[in-house]
Amino acid sequence: MQKELEDILEKAKDYQIKTKDELENFRLKFLSKKSALQTIFDNFKNFSVEEKKTLGRKLNEVKQSLESIFESHKHLYDDNTIKSLADNSVTVNAIEIGSQHPISIIQNEIIGIFDQLGFVVSEGPEIEDDWHNFSALNFPPDHPARDMQDTFFVDKEYALRTHTSSVQVRVMENNKPPIRIIAPGRVYRNEAVSARSNSFFHQIEGLVIDEESTFADMKQTLYHFVSKLFGEREIRFRASYFPFTEPSAEMDIYLGTETESDYRLTKGTGWLEVLGCGMLDPNVLINCGIDPEKYSGYAFGLGIDRLAMLRYGIKDIRQMFQNDVRFLHQFKGL
Ligand code: DAH
Repeated sequence: MQKELEDILEKAKDYQIKTKDELENFRLKFLSKKSALQTIFDNFKNFSVEEKKTLGRKLNEVKQSLESIFESHKHLYDDNTIKSLADNSVTVNAIEIGSQHPISIIQNEIIGIFDQLGFVVSEGPEIEDDWHNFSALNFPPDHPARDMQDTFFVDKEYALRTHTSSVQVRVMENNKPPIRIIAPGRVYRNEAVSARSNSFFHQIEGLVIDEESTFADMKQTLYHFVSKLFGEREIRFRASYFPFTEPSAEMDIYLGTETESDYRLTKGTGWLEVLGCGMLDPNVLINCGIDPEKYSGYAFGLGIDRLAMLRYGIKDIRQMFQNDVRFLHQFKGL
């Protein structure tokens, strides 16, 4: 028995403990209820009184040595791993797992849908000059169209961008067709803040320029997008006006009026406006150095805050930007 104890001690001393897994294995092998040492303890009562005397002391010595080997490596268990060693259960020091913001969830989903169609992501600055936000997009100086968007001016020349359409201009100026991009980002408007409108929100812009891109291509692309995001739904295009597209349209999707919230959202019509779109006005192409005789293109822009509110039943847009963890935690795992 003495020999057995010596062997156990020898093995324990040689045991490599460099990681917390190895330390845990050491514990299981030498100190747990299933260890050889424990078996000897369990059989202790069967030994003669004489044996008990000598063996008892040795047993305790070995046990202490094993424990001190274990103790001297205990730092390998750092705070967020196994804490409780008395039993075999494992307590984990919970690290808060973050959650994606609802806006990011929707944005990433939309990027994914367009990625499959060959669109790449472009970005532009949030503090934008007049040219990229307005002039190049065919908003003439002092034209009332500029009033469509209440602008936060930084100074005479710069403003917080009012839409992601400014990124279109930057992309066209710096790239040759074919162009196929989407531009997600934050935009700013000087509007009264309420449950349904905020002074900043998020858009995704799309731009396609090629030798033969048509209104029909645009419709099909947008139909595909809608059916991926919402499932198969009816869509419709209504004639509209934007300075930088001609013809321009707004696209609605059919939600129906069956539920009370659909009824309210669609003001009783069943139709929800989702985006603005159109064929790029030739003036815009010229402004950005692209020959409108050779190339045509289409663009679209949609707000994603409202889509997030619609999907997750968020009643007040402001809730999304208060950083209240009770709100944010609801999106864990999505
Ligand atoms: N920029 C427009 C807005 O913020 C949305 C828009 C409409 C973007 C038509 C487009 C478009 O690209 O073709 O209201």
